[in-house]
Amino acid sequence: MTASTPTKPPRSRFPVLTADEAAALIQHGQTVGFSGFTAAGATKVIPTAIARRARAEHTAGRPFQIGVVTGASTGPSLDGELARANAISWRTPYQSDPDLRKRINAGETRFFDMHLSMLPQNVRYGFLGKFSWAILEAADVNSDGAIVPTSSVGATPTFCRVADKILIELNRHHPTALFGMHDIYEPDDPPYRREVPIYKPSDRAGFPFIKVDPSKIAGIVETNLPDETGKFDLPNDVTRRIGQNVAGFLAAELKRGTMGKDLLPLQSGVGDIANAVLGALGEHDDIPPFEMYTEVIQDSVINLINRGKVRFASGTALTVSQSVLASIYANLTDYRHRLLLRPQEISNQPEIVRRLGIISINTAIEADLFGNVNSTHIMGRNIMNGIGGSGDFTRNAFISIFTCPSTQKDGKISTIVPLVSHADHSEHSVQVIITENGVADLRGKDPSERARLILDRCAHPDYRDTLRRYFDMAKGGHTPQTLSTAFRMHEQFLQKGDMHGIDWAS
Ligand code: COA
Repeated sequence: MTASTPTKPPRSRFPVLTADEAAALIQHGQTVGFSGFTAAGATKVIPTAIARRARAEHTAGRPFQIGVVTGASTGPSLDGELARANAISWRTPYQSDPDLRKRINAGETRFFDMHLSMLPQNVRYGFLGKFSWAILEAADVNSDGAIVPTSSVGATPTFCRVADKILIELNRHHPTALFGMHDIYEPDDPPYRREVPIYKPSDRAGFPFIKVDPSKIAGIVETNLPDETGKFDLPNDVTRRIGQNVAGFLAAELKRGTMGKDLLPLQSGVGDIANAVLGALGEHDDIPPFEMYTEVIQDSVINLINRGKVRFASGTALTVSQSVLASIYANLTDYRHRLLLRPQEISNQPEIVRRLGIISINTAIEADLFGNVNSTHIMGRNIMNGIGGSGDFTRNAFISIFTCPSTQKDGKISTIVPLVSHADHSEHSVQVIITENGVADLRGKDPSERARLILDRCAHPDYRDTLRRYFDMAKGGHTPQTLSTAFRMHEQFLQKGDMHGIDWAS
């Protein structure tokens, strides 16, 4: 594949459209692959215009819904607007928008949850049907069809490859000098697939732009809009203690010599706990500077880069606050040697995760006494967001860690339960569970040993006796479990709004 650099030849061959003109091209029943991995790099004005169009069609008594596929979650102008307009017939692979979540849990929108590394290949294999459109945000595009993405890559290269037609939001908020920040590599499909040539987080395997057939570009909509990224809370007492426990565990692991003298590359999930964990790693004297091979790069990573504690971070999305993004853009020459954005198929690639020996750190909704983890469902029924990249990393990690507070909802829910109400990561993949109370290292332990460790080290003191009574009652077999009562804590919460005071005997 060859192409000239995106900034050189003029792009005047492509029609410049308004968002409404672009939206008018999309037909009811079509499947659209949108750019965006979190709110970073998500398209904004075209999906909002599609939502307007859907409302107008519905008012006129005509159906209008599309299939929506993205890298992961997006911003309110995409998932939020389309969900409120009832314009989404089906959605994959991940979402975090409250309005869309409501529709999914009400059974009004079809959603299927996927490992994020698998989405691009499943799209190429044809498992998700025909893609009529790729709609993406770009920092630059040239007349040869070389496109520089903005703050994320996600699944955009694959959407561009398979879609019949492409629409581009050319967002001036992102500088054309972003050229060089991305490494676009798409593997061949079986039976021709080879190893992905990445042997350390900073290795490049592909091109700094997405190359598309220029005849597929139906138009460009010009914008100047920031990413709709949210804010993180400052660490509180619980998240700070979780962070300190993770840092202490990794420092001890380094001392034990299981991974040489340097920390192996880290993957860290998204959110307040992940921020607190990274903060604690930055503070810990016995944690030397390290590299990250992760999915989402958030503010705390940039902070650690600035302090010299993170030497390099590879991801698929730069999900940072506006002020942090502005500081990166003001010093792009420096950050280009410290940051790299790749397709999610590569940032989350199981082959690379295992080769590099990634330490994965993700957040659980609940964990059971035997080490199974639920990352996606509330009380077994309602989806929260989706599995995201947690499975890609956990299953293949050098050490896989799950963190969570030991209680939720003002202490009325214990996140340590006899049996998870939905299983995303099995006892075979989960190696370490960490709450604010302590660390349960499950490696080399049988189910009963795991249960005792999780009970003693991770469960909240309020629930330890309850869980111990369950364990004593369930004793026997290889995995002590009593099917008739395994969900009693959940059932009681659903009936009484509180897991305290379980009566196991009745
Ligand atoms: N039972 C009931 N509700 C629970 C719960 C439980 N065991 N655990 C969490 N919740 C609720 C919280 O109370 C909160 O509710 P609210 O929105 O009404 O306040 C909500 O779920 C989110 O929990 P919170 O503690 O704020 O967690 P978070 O924002 O750190 O998100 C996950 C936690 C698990 C939902 C999130 O990390 C996720 O989606 N993970 C899966 C994807 C992933 O791991 N991605 C990274 C891989 S690279």
